[in-house]
Amino acid sequence: MKIRTNTCGQLRKENIGEEIVLNGWVENSRDHGGVRFIDLRDRFGLTQIKFNEDINKEAWEIAHKVRSQFVLSVTGTVISRGEAVNDKMLTGEIEVEISSIEILNECETPPFEITDYVNVNEELRLKYRYLDLRRPAMQENFLFRNKLVHSIREYFYQNDFIEVETPVLTKSTPEGARDYLVPSRVHSGEFYALPQSPQLFKQLLMVSGFDKYIQIVKCFRDEDLRADRQPEFTQIDIEMSFVDKDIILNMVEELVTAIFKETLNIEVSRPFQRIPFLEAMDKYGSDKPELRFGMQLINVSELMHNVDFKVFRSIVEEGGMVKVINAKGGASLTRKEIDNLEATAKTYGARGLAWIKINEDGLQSPIVKFFSEEQINAIVAKAGGEVGDLILFGAGKENVVHDSLGQVRLQVGKLMKLYDANDYHFSFVVDAPLFEKDSQTGRLNSVHHPFTMPLINDISELDTDIESVLSDSYDLVINGCEIGGGSIRIHKPDIQQKIFELLGIGKEEAEQKFGFLVDALSYGAPPHGGLAFGLDRLCMILLKLDSLRDCIAFPKTQKAACLMSEAPSKVDAEQLKELSLKIEQVKVKK
Ligand code: AMO
Ligand code: AMP
Repeated sequence: MKIRTNTCGQLRKENIGEEIVLNGWVENSRDHGGVRFIDLRDRFGLTQIKFNEDINKEAWEIAHKVRSQFVLSVTGTVISRGEAVNDKMLTGEIEVEISSIEILNECETPPFEITDYVNVNEELRLKYRYLDLRRPAMQENFLFRNKLVHSIREYFYQNDFIEVETPVLTKSTPEGARDYLVPSRVHSGEFYALPQSPQLFKQLLMVSGFDKYIQIVKCFRDEDLRADRQPEFTQIDIEMSFVDKDIILNMVEELVTAIFKETLNIEVSRPFQRIPFLEAMDKYGSDKPELRFGMQLINVSELMHNVDFKVFRSIVEEGGMVKVINAKGGASLTRKEIDNLEATAKTYGARGLAWIKINEDGLQSPIVKFFSEEQINAIVAKAGGEVGDLILFGAGKENVVHDSLGQVRLQVGKLMKLYDANDYHFSFVVDAPLFEKDSQTGRLNSVHHPFTMPLINDISELDTDIESVLSDSYDLVINGCEIGGGSIRIHKPDIQQKIFELLGIGKEEAEQKFGFLVDALSYGAPPHGGLAFGLDRLCMILLKLDSLRDCIAFPKTQKAACLMSEAPSKVDAEQLKELSLKIEQVKVKK
């Protein structure tokens, strides 16, 4: 094989007259009389190569055996394209007149065309992922991801962080998902858990005195998957000692500013907005508010006490709430568009989506008939309603109203183009409640994780009003997407024990699961805190992708399967025996 002298993206008019060798894949080929053109691609670009029947009959004949995605080594001379310059190609000023050609490998007819211009079903793309990744757009995503990781490592290297690897075969680290378990052969009947995050280890590294830790690390979570969630994903994991929230958030702003500058050449303005968790829920119905537009949720519950509309009145009497959003100018939305909004509200648990259009000639609404004029005027006034507006109602339990109206708000924002899709908005959602109550079991769960410090002023309330206790936590939200989350940690063993107790984790269980952490806290643990970014999510938002899968080389489907390797798969009886495992066939009820 003749090794390339240049890549397929390299040759320019300065190279005219040079004898060169290119290696690459055939993107397409076409005949023009006695001349055959082939576009040869590698990850660096595309070069047009030319076979002339009169100049080199042998090469010309071989060129006719070549089909799409064959792998070639070609030798030839760089020549000018003359009149036929192609401005859209970096190598568009030249072409290569071929003197010899070697077919390095053939290619079966690909299951889909390897270009960016065809729509291919994602299942097929995932099954032949290696071909999908050969497409230029996918290669660009990974070149970008590489640049992103480089800029991140550079920032941490410049700022005295140390990258330390933590184990993958470990014990459960609770982050709210199920664990992936790995059976131990040596310890029959025992299991490792893959880390949901390196949380415990990075805290231990602070106890060891590493002071500033960073790791770009795989995490594993067995949870319901969505477009922005994968069962294995990558975190940029960070921990720092002798810090408070302000120091950490300042570091995050610096890092994010550096990333946006280096990868997109965008100047990010600082400081980022900080919004308390409860305010975000109240005003936007979300703990990751999209802040590129306003349209806040407005509570109108107190106006519902005496109304005839029984649905709303009884919801408020039973401790629920009624909130509205005012879609400015939304009276122009069609009935169908409003029906679609209602369908969204319903998928998030709402019973309906009452509305009022404020038209020039009066109000139009399915519910005004249930209200006196005075009552309606009060509602419209509270919503800031003017002619041309559309007021949308969410009524029910607090979480349902927030979820459903929050989603309706996002949909209206998109539908009415209330923001520039190219803008970025950065915010920190801070001070989340320490605990949330499971509505089914009544048990308390951590909103972040059990190692999060309560706000100092709230610690005394752990014994009195536990649900009102807030945590010293923060999430980084970009354009309504949670990109990172973290907190100041508990560094005193007695507070950590207390939190375990409140979470219903008994002494014995705490000792068995987290004994090593509590021990470590009693050996001179420094005050510390940190956070983790979702690298895949960050990449997705920078590239404006709709799915994480487009910036993960070999992602899994919504059912956590790899369509290419067909993982997960059954294993041999022998292997099971070695692991002391027996598979019980569970009948799935149809
Ligand atoms: P958290 O659970 O918030 O925090 O995770 C941090 C960030 O990781 C990303 N992320 C995911 N990305 C893709 N697929 C998933 N399944 C997935 N789950 C989470 C999100 C999220 O913001 N140990 C703590 C961090 C800390 O306190 O320092 C933790 O893991 O972008
Ligand atoms: P109904 O009397 O049930 O037909 O409801 C009248 C209007 O109120 C319809 O537009 C419903 O979509 C709306 N509606 C009913 N229940 C709710 C609710 N819980 N929240 C918001 N709108 C509702």
